[in-house]
This record gives sequence, C-alpha cells and structure tokens, in this order.
Amino acid sequence: MHSLTLLSLAAVGHAASTMLRFGCSQIVIDRIDPLVNPGQAPSPHLHQVVGGNAFNISMPSTDIAELATCTTCNYADDFSNYWTANMYFKARNGSFKRVPQVPNRLLFGDKFTTKTTGGFVVYYVSPGKGGVTAFKPGFRMLVGDANKRAQGSKSMKSQTCFRCYSGPNFGGDNAAPCADAKLDTEAFPKGPCLGGIRSNILYPTCWDGKNLDSPDHKSHVAYPTAGPQTFTGSSVGTTCPTTHPVKIPQIMLEIVWDTTAFNNKADWPADEKPLYLSTGDNTGYGQHGDYVFGWRGDALQRAMDAGCTGASCSNLKVLTNEEAAKCKVPERVNEKWEGWLDSLPGMTPDMIQ
Ligand SMILES: *[C@@H]1O[C@H](CO)[C@@H](O)[C@H](O)[C@H]1NC(C)=O
Ligand SMILES: *[C@@H]1O[C@H](CO)[C@@H](O)[C@H](O)[C@H]1NC(C)=O
Repeated sequence: MHSLTLLSLAAVGHAASTMLRFGCSQIVIDRIDPLVNPGQAPSPHLHQVVGGNAFNISMPSTDIAELATCTTCNYADDFSNYWTANMYFKARNGSFKRVPQVPNRLLFGDKFTTKTTGGFVVYYVSPGKGGVTAFKPGFRMLVGDANKRAQGSKSMKSQTCFRCYSGPNFGGDNAAPCADAKLDTEAFPKGPCLGGIRSNILYPTCWDGKNLDSPDHKSHVAYPTAGPQTFTGSSVGTTCPTTHPVKIPQIMLEIVWDTTAFNNKADWPADEKPLYLSTGDNTGYGQHGDYVFGWRGDALQRAMDAGCTGASCSNLKVLTNEEAAKCKVPERVNEKWEGWLDSLPGMTPDMIQ
C-alpha cells in the first residue's frame, strides 16, 4: 500500500523537479489571525499554527526571517507561518472536543516528519530549475473560504479535500492527494474513518508579480488558465493568466487528524454530523489555509531549483525534532480550547452550523 504511493509520487516527478515534503510541529494554538484579522485578539475563530516564532497578533509586511529566531519546521531556513482552522468533535450531548493532529507517515526516509508534535506537513513543488519564482519577503496569501458551506457551482476538491483513511497506518493512501474518487471528499467524510482523516489544502500557483498581498489576500494570486493544478509533485500547471504571469511554487498543507477516538456512532449527534471546523463549519467546505512567507535569503529559490525531494536538500540546513520542538510562541488570547467544551472557542450557538 505504502510503496504504491511512493512509486506513484516517484513516477510523476522528473529527476529535475523539486518536491519538498517536511513536517512542522505546532508552534501555538491561538485565536489570532495576523493575515485576515491583524491586530485582533481574539480573532473570530481558533487556529493551529506552525513555523517561525515571529507569529503574532499582527505581522509586518517585511522580511519575517529577520524577525524570527527559530522555527518548528524541519528546514532551519523556513521561518514562514502556515495556519489552518482546528477540527472539533461534537458529542451527542452537545459538548465539543478538539481532534488532535498526529505525525504523518514515513516517506523518503524522513524521520523528522514522523516525530513532530501536533502540527502538519508542508509541501513545495517546482517543475525544476527556473520553473518557479520563489516568494518575496512580505508575501502572504490565503486559500479557501472560511464562510463556504456548500460546494457551489465549482468543485474545488482538487485543492481542498479530506481523505477518509480506510484502516490504521494510513490505510487506503494509494492515490495522490485529493485524487481518490472514493476516499477524498471536499466535504467532511460521511461515516467513521477507521484510520483517521487527512486534510490537503493546496495554494494557487500564479502571481501578479507585483503585490505582496491584496485586500482579500487572494487577488494577487490566481490559478493557471487550464484551472487549478492538481497535486502531481512535479508540476505547477502549464500557462498562467496574463494578469498573473509569474509561476510560483505550489504549496500544499497536509494534516493528519486522529479521529479514531470519535468513531463510535452511538456518541454522534442525531444529525450524524460530528465534525466541525473551529469556524463553526460542519460541512468541511470552509477548510482554508493561511500563509506568510518567511524563508531566509534565497534558500527557497535554491531549493526549488535544486531538484530536491522530501526533507533533505543540498545546502539546506535541517533541524532535529528536539531543536524544532524548543521553538514556541506564547498564547496571546487565554481561553480554553482543550478538553470537553460547551461550545467552540469564541462561537455562540447561532454561529455553529
Ligand atoms: C507581539 O505583539 C504584542 C502585541 O501587539 C507585542 O506586545 C509583542 O511585543 C509582540 N511580540 C513579538 C515577539 O514581536
Ligand atoms: C458529553 O459527552 C462526552 C462524551 O460522551 C462526555 O465525555 C462529556 O463529559 C459529556 N459532557 C457533559 C457536559 O455531559
């Protein structure tokens, strides 16, 4: 089972393409969002954050690698921040409990990623030397829509999906992310997932070449003219629109949620919708990801041009799990988000649906 994914990933990647895949431990869980709600503490919903310790209520549009002094990620030069909504389980009695994240499976001999604490895995894809332009200091973007509650006219399943593992040890992990017709869904899985659930969130691959951000944090980036690029591990799509001509690395976040403690349907609410994002979303369509670029110097461009795979790349320094785990930021909003809760953090009952 596992070797099949290894094979399919290896088969799609050409020798010269780059697919970084590396774990990052959680740096904090907090109800702040320096991209969408800068200066607000608390912000509307809770997030789980990985990456550098410059993460704060606000983050200036500057060289984050100069502000941060440590990172929870495998690559020592990556002081970026990546964050997503948390997942919660709602019991029959109406109480909520956070679904923990667990480390991802072993691939490419990368032990770091199998020993992270919370957090998730980050991918960066480039077709090879000169194929993409790395992000500039101050760059940030958002993918997905926290308010989305239905599929709408266009499925974005190739860019945001949940995989329902069919058994323990990442069972059923055979197809590329978001490419399994049965196990990958844009909405939350309908039944219990025997091996837990995996989220994949993919970012756009074209940039306008000028703006580091935009009012909606999205319009400065775009999808290729042929549509959002599926995850192949080697391509960022063929042609970018003339408005957004610059090809940027394809970033993908991959989160493994251990839902196995919540698989007993007798504990589920009567509507059989036990899973919620911290936004109050019980559809899953509102899955989204935030990104603030923070690689030091030209480290990301070098990696994108070097033809690297996984969690080691020539000339890039890596951390041990012990070093990465020492990197922390304090919680700025002190509230309870762990254990059985009467509601989702910051949510009144009318906001939860
Ligand atoms: C984070 O933000 C708070 C409030 O704006 C500020 O007091 C603090 O110095 C900041 N911390 C860092 C490490 O920048
Ligand atoms: C709700 O149900 C859960 C799971 O069955 C239980 O652990 C928790 O204590 C209950 N909470 C309340 C307030 O009864």
